Amino acid sequence: MAQTSRISGFFKLSIDERLEIVKDFAGLEKEDIELLKNPGALGIEKADKMIENVIGKIEVPLGVASNFLVNGKEYFVPMATEEPSVVAAASHAARFTRNKGGIFASNSGPVMIAQIQAVNIADPFGAKMAILENKEEIMELANGQDPILVRLGGGVKDIEVRVIDTRLGAMVITHLIVDTRDAMGANAVNSMAEALAPMIEKITGGKVYLRILSNLAVKRLVRARTVIGKDDIGGEEVVDGIVMAGAFAEADPYRAATHNKGIMNGVTAVVLATGNDTRAVEAGAHAYASRFGRYTSLTAWEKNMDGNLVGTLEMPMAVGLVGGATATHPIAKLAVKILGVKTAVELAEVIAATGLAQNLAAVKALATEGIQRGHMALHARNIAVNAGAKGEMVDKIAEIMIKERKIRVDRAEELLRDLK
Ligand code: MEV
Repeated sequence: MAQTSRISGFFKLSIDERLEIVKDFAGLEKEDIELLKNPGALGIEKADKMIENVIGKIEVPLGVASNFLVNGKEYFVPMATEEPSVVAAASHAARFTRNKGGIFASNSGPVMIAQIQAVNIADPFGAKMAILENKEEIMELANGQDPILVRLGGGVKDIEVRVIDTRLGAMVITHLIVDTRDAMGANAVNSMAEALAPMIEKITGGKVYLRILSNLAVKRLVRARTVIGKDDIGGEEVVDGIVMAGAFAEADPYRAATHNKGIMNGVTAVVLATGNDTRAVEAGAHAYASRFGRYTSLTAWEKNMDGNLVGTLEMPMAVGLVGGATATHPIAKLAVKILGVKTAVELAEVIAATGLAQNLAAVKALATEGIQRGHMALHARNIAVNAGAKGEMVDKIAEIMIKERKIRVDRAEELLRDLK
């Protein structure tokens, strides 16, 4: 098996050559390769069981980002996205991180919050205390809903109660703090919250309405950190430009939205590739970015005492490895196999590392030459391929079109005829 995901010129290889490398790296079988190349990998019957009113499927390209070294382990990161440049940018930025050990990630555990909303309570603070007095009984009833999760070491670990002020008066909000282990956990925690409703009504004398998880998963945080040598990224001026871009995003919500969108280019692509819930992760990301009352950046970029660049990311990451599309979609299953992650928290850490690298690629380009040159180079290659170019001819034709500022299929076809 290949030991490294550091492959120079991976993007220049043919699909078969790339598949061969990934097959070797991840120990894929011949059937896995066939499945990846097969346009109908998700059969219509399977699709019909996944959602309702099925009439077809929409395909999105699946790429793998190379060069990822996270907590000392090599990864090829599967990314599903319709956006050109994303996979190339992630791979490019991951390369910069390698000289100083790659990306280091940690997590706060796979812990979700479920909310139970109780209203029409005359003494909300009394009700809060009454709920907490019955904590053991509440936890026992909740854990009774999912004995398998409890056996695996998960289940409800704590109860928190908040009294919130709303335009319809005070509400008593009970939070179940649930360790969901390798599941994303939506079904587990929602079932627990629903089962507890009568008990909460009895304790508080109020009425329970909503019983649902919170996507502001502040107890399911993932963190990533990297240090990049100034000489590995183009010098101290580039470091300064990136740090300046970071400060801009921290201070200005208009910029933070775009900055975070760049992070989510990486995050969502891996979440989608592994069959996880992209909207849950996105909702969590943006809510977390607003946790201080003003929307801000999810990453921080600093210069350390040696003049090197330090990048960090912290965000909620509610992803799982069991259940949902991760367990049923054949390509999502293969994406997990390619990643080689063994737990949901390891998956979350690799996703955070991808988000950090994706952000680095964007801010580096923005703080230096701008993003259009890289985009145009990739666009020109795609146009050359569309015109029928193969091998070395692709780069040759792309180069001429960029120089001429004529990136069009008709020009690529003309060049292909001339150069042949
Ligand atoms: C484009 O998809 C993402 C960027 O706009 C992110 C950013 O501005 O940081 C390039």
